[in-house]
Amino acid sequence: MIKKNQTLGEFIIENQAEFAYSSGELSRLINSIRLAAKVVNHEVNKAGLVDITGAAGETNVQGEDQQKLDVYANEKFIQTLTNREIVCGIASEENDDFITIAGSNNDHKNKYVVLMDPLDGSSNIDVNVSVGTIFSIYRRVSPVGTPVQLEDFLQPGNKQVAAGYVVYGTSTMLVYTTGHGVNGFTLNPALGSWYLSHPNMKFPEKGCIYSVNEGNYVHFPLGVKKYIKYCQEEKEDRPYTSRYIGSLVSDFHRNMIKGGIYFYPTTSSAPNGKLRLLYECNPMAFIAEQAGGKASNGFDRILDIDPTELHQRVPFFCGNREMVEKAEEFMAKNPE
Ligand code: AHG
Ligand code: MN
Ligand code: MN
Repeated sequence: MIKKNQTLGEFIIENQAEFAYSSGELSRLINSIRLAAKVVNHEVNKAGLVDITGAAGETNVQGEDQQKLDVYANEKFIQTLTNREIVCGIASEENDDFITIAGSNNDHKNKYVVLMDPLDGSSNIDVNVSVGTIFSIYRRVSPVGTPVQLEDFLQPGNKQVAAGYVVYGTSTMLVYTTGHGVNGFTLNPALGSWYLSHPNMKFPEKGCIYSVNEGNYVHFPLGVKKYIKYCQEEKEDRPYTSRYIGSLVSDFHRNMIKGGIYFYPTTSSAPNGKLRLLYECNPMAFIAEQAGGKASNGFDRILDIDPTELHQRVPFFCGNREMVEKAEEFMAKNPE
């Protein structure tokens, strides 16, 4: 049962039975993510102090080397998940290859893999704009007891057992799904606890926001150009409002609450788009569908794509069902 304001810890315990394989392992995994998120949140909040503590790549007044926040976030999530021996492997946007986690007895006994974008929207850090972390969790397909394999990470998004994001915004929120709806927890920084502030999140029936980097307009496919013109047309409930932060997590979060579509299509210089299927699109697509929305590459469902490589990119259209379907309509009519 969902009780507003309950803590994330209570929520995980109460809802553990909903997981397909309720061994408690997945609960412990999500517990580790919430811990790492708190540590990263603390660091993100200090980002404006870089002039005092030393900028990335420099040494601060205490003589410590300063790291770029995306490297820091990557290390913190990897450390937390490795130390607690919860997963058998991690793939991150920040690492060329996946990491194998053997376990203390070298037994490779853990069943889950995590894929993540440790700091999404990192170019916004310098200007005090919201950034996020995205994570995606699968059950391994290779046998337990053996080292994790590439095939454990290259599963289609429809095999995710959980996915979520943290948005380090005006408040810090952790939003996740295990396939039973989407719930959002807000961090109380004074107590270090997450509280269920947004139970059962759903896209509103109608959306009126479109989010796209319109600076790339001339490089977009014809279907996208026409869809943008449709969004801007004065007809029925249009023109829609344009909102683009440049952090997928923040743009998605706003659109899920207020109703809207986010898209990052192919461009002439990026023929597969910019966003990564495994670290960004699949987790967001899972959350979107669980919140009554839709996610597509312009033609097909994101979650049904069979990945071929870890850092694969894909065009991405995600948000209110109706809006994504309308965009798909324009794409179908104008294939290139
Ligand atoms: P990251 O910071 O993890 O590299 O991701 C940035 C992504 C995404 O968050 C955002 O929506 C998009 O890149 C913005 O790209 P443009 O600056 O090209 O619009
Ligand atoms: Mn990203
Ligand atoms: Mn990133």
